[in-house]
Amino acid sequence: MRKFFIRVFGCQMNSYDGDRLRTAMNHMGWTESAEDEADVVMLVTCSIREKAEQKAASEIGRYDLQRRRTGKPSVVLVGCMAQRIGREMAKKFPCVKLVSGPRHLGLVPQAAAELTPDCAPRFFMDDDPRALIDLEVVPTARTNPFKAYVTITYGCDRFCSYCIVPYVRGRLQSRAHEDILNEMKALIDGGVREITLLGQNVDAYGKDLKNGYGFASLLADAAALPGLERLRFATSHPKDFDADILDVMKESPSICRAINLPVQSGSDRILREMNRGYTSGQYLELVDRIKSALPDVSLTTDLIVGFPGETEEEFRDSYRLLEKVKFDIVHTAAYSPREGTRAAMMDCQVDNRVKAARLNEINALQASIARASNEQYVGQEFDILADGWAPRGEGKIQGRTMTDKVVIIPGGEEDFGKTIPVTITRASHWSLEGERRRKP
Ligand code: SAH
Ligand code: SF4
Ligand code: F3S
Repeated sequence: MRKFFIRVFGCQMNSYDGDRLRTAMNHMGWTESAEDEADVVMLVTCSIREKAEQKAASEIGRYDLQRRRTGKPSVVLVGCMAQRIGREMAKKFPCVKLVSGPRHLGLVPQAAAELTPDCAPRFFMDDDPRALIDLEVVPTARTNPFKAYVTITYGCDRFCSYCIVPYVRGRLQSRAHEDILNEMKALIDGGVREITLLGQNVDAYGKDLKNGYGFASLLADAAALPGLERLRFATSHPKDFDADILDVMKESPSICRAINLPVQSGSDRILREMNRGYTSGQYLELVDRIKSALPDVSLTTDLIVGFPGETEEEFRDSYRLLEKVKFDIVHTAAYSPREGTRAAMMDCQVDNRVKAARLNEINALQASIARASNEQYVGQEFDILADGWAPRGEGKIQGRTMTDKVVIIPGGEEDFGKTIPVTITRASHWSLEGERRRKP
């Protein structure tokens, strides 16, 4: 068996894990192939909402049928869903031959390479939420040659009442900053222009190390690496976002003016029930502080509608908060009960139809806010880092501004990885169109 196919669900941390797995498999002499030719299919899975798990489960079902007909593929199940229900999946679907929790990724490539078509399934579960056998590989085989992710913290200790992450990714653990910076240097040497530092709560970086080296120090050192054009990070937590992060951002022009600051709800009662650790007033104060320190900042957020017990009026609080802040992007979701979390056990779950209606309403509001804010960009000038073809349209490429706005311009492959000065000519809900401008 020498061909593998890999599929990633969920967040950017999974993309990073997928890229490292791909790289490690290549190092062992395996080739990435089309799905139907693969001997081994690796699924990097997500548990954040029921839908994410259903999608992966139906894929596994499909591979199981295929395996009965053709003898392949064997499925390697990793990521959060593997940790949560991987044993069940292996019992139900004989094609599942290897299951690993997110904190045992280091054992996966070798074990995947050793699979035989009729071997018994193997399990590397994160039974101890502090265990960590990481995959020490620089992700050089990436989907994008110019952009890379680097995880800086594993796990999460916040236990928001709706969230499965602390149960499947284990306890917060910060990577040593030397390791992070060395990995970044290797990526930059390999041609990477933009790096995004990842964590469920990047602001908590270093809080477990107790050596005084926190996220602000890491940002400053990372931004100073020669050859790195753009530095991004995600996700920030309103409770942990400290003032010294803004100080570093102000002084470092390579740190992108884009902050994802999930608010989750505009209602103080719901925020309390969610165990978020802040009120809507404190959140708005933080937004003001960020905007006055970085006037050109782009703010994005995550928001859940239909948390257990959310009344119409409490939903309106979220609606009004979006009207007030006018985020560039809002990642909205209908609350999905996750077994074992506190919120899933609350009575007064909101009816699915009510959740769907609230989701529609909030998405419509955000679409109009995004359109109005995008229209303000028409006529303005930006530098974009071109990163690939535009989703539609021959001869068009796309790139992102420092504030993470997508801009589409005419161009070709020769532009990929280059910084291109553009003037915005048109705006739509989700993207901007532009034309090239000569550098003065
Ligand atoms: N660590 C980040 C985000 C983690 S998960 C934070 O603290 O915000 C990404 C997003 O998924 C969350 O921001 C939340 O909006 C959403 N999410 C998490 N659990 C969910 C659930 N049970 N139902 C619906 N959305 C959920
Ligand atoms: Fe989940 Fe909260 Fe941790 Fe984010 S901070 S990963 S929402 S528990
Ligand atoms: Fe999903 Fe796990 Fe990320 S639940 S969002 S893949 S941390």
